Amino acid sequence: MKIKIDSPLDMHLHLRDEDMLKVVAPLSAQTFSGALVMPNLIPPITTKEQLLDYKNRIEEAKKYNNFKPYMTLFFKSDYTYEFLKEIKKDILAIKLYPAGITTNSEDGVANFSIDVLSPVLEAMSELGIVLSVHGETNGFVMDREAEFIPIYEKIAKRFPKLKIVMEHITTKEAVKALDEYENLYATITLHHLYITLDDVAGGLLRPHLFCKPIAKRPEDRMALRKVAFMAHPKVMFGSDSAPHPRYKKEAPGCAAGVFSAPVALAALAQIFDEADALESLQKFVSQNAQKIYNITPPRKEVVLEKEEFLVPSSYENVVPIFANETLRWKVVDVL
Ligand code: NCD
Ligand code: ZN
Repeated sequence: MKIKIDSPLDMHLHLRDEDMLKVVAPLSAQTFSGALVMPNLIPPITTKEQLLDYKNRIEEAKKYNNFKPYMTLFFKSDYTYEFLKEIKKDILAIKLYPAGITTNSEDGVANFSIDVLSPVLEAMSELGIVLSVHGETNGFVMDREAEFIPIYEKIAKRFPKLKIVMEHITTKEAVKALDEYENLYATITLHHLYITLDDVAGGLLRPHLFCKPIAKRPEDRMALRKVAFMAHPKVMFGSDSAPHPRYKKEAPGCAAGVFSAPVALAALAQIFDEADALESLQKFVSQNAQKIYNITPPRKEVVLEKEEFLVPSSYENVVPIFANETLRWKVVDVL
């Protein structure tokens, strides 16, 4: 059995920099036709020069054609209207991180008072720039996303024309919010469709499944699966593939992030097939994002076959999700 996916998009991707960029960029560019590239480098991307230089480094590292890096800027509450107007054509979204909530987010937002955020959000709303958000408070780790929902609601109500993407949602509460506010959208990762906290810490601790937001309960996963498998028009695939070198994962203080880009399409085909939802996959990995972000990615046709795929134990120094496991679907051709 074979299926073909047109122009798959990964709307939340960490490509890193330097040697890591050279390892991981081709692994996305091979099978995806575009990706929304996260700005949490050290230091984060906050200027036009940094942004364009980084984009050039990605173009040099990607090795495959027909892959478009859609760039993002790291949210700062002191950007001016003039700066945003000038940079608008070079970015697809601005990514807001609460300060210190995840990898390289120390320079994020510490004060969520609407008065502090308003000038930039107002400008983004007027200029039509999408707000992409890592929505977690600094509360108890399992409750962080649900506790953040009121902040999404506050921003969504105050700026009804601003498109807001709740990134890598993990809870039934976030799924519910999607249908309550017209301007709320979401990305869903591969790993949050597959795993719950039990897979991370219920048996032996599995550091390569540790990420932010942490995987939640079976009922949360069920809520995510429901909207993904029906290709709910407000959800898109965003892998949140977040590579860290093995020594940072297999360590007493394990870095957060699951590396999934090279296996993403095969593993998505598998789980959609198991749910009898293969007909929704095209929308989930491409059309929905094209509509939400109003983009037309480069043409790329990816052929997947129901055939065994033994996932490598590592790609250089990075261990992927499903390392050494056999998936039931495989990418067999890219046209
Ligand atoms: C991401 C990273 O490593 O950059 N980590 C993660 O656990 N997802 C950052 C992020 O998206 O939170
Ligand atoms: Zn991320």
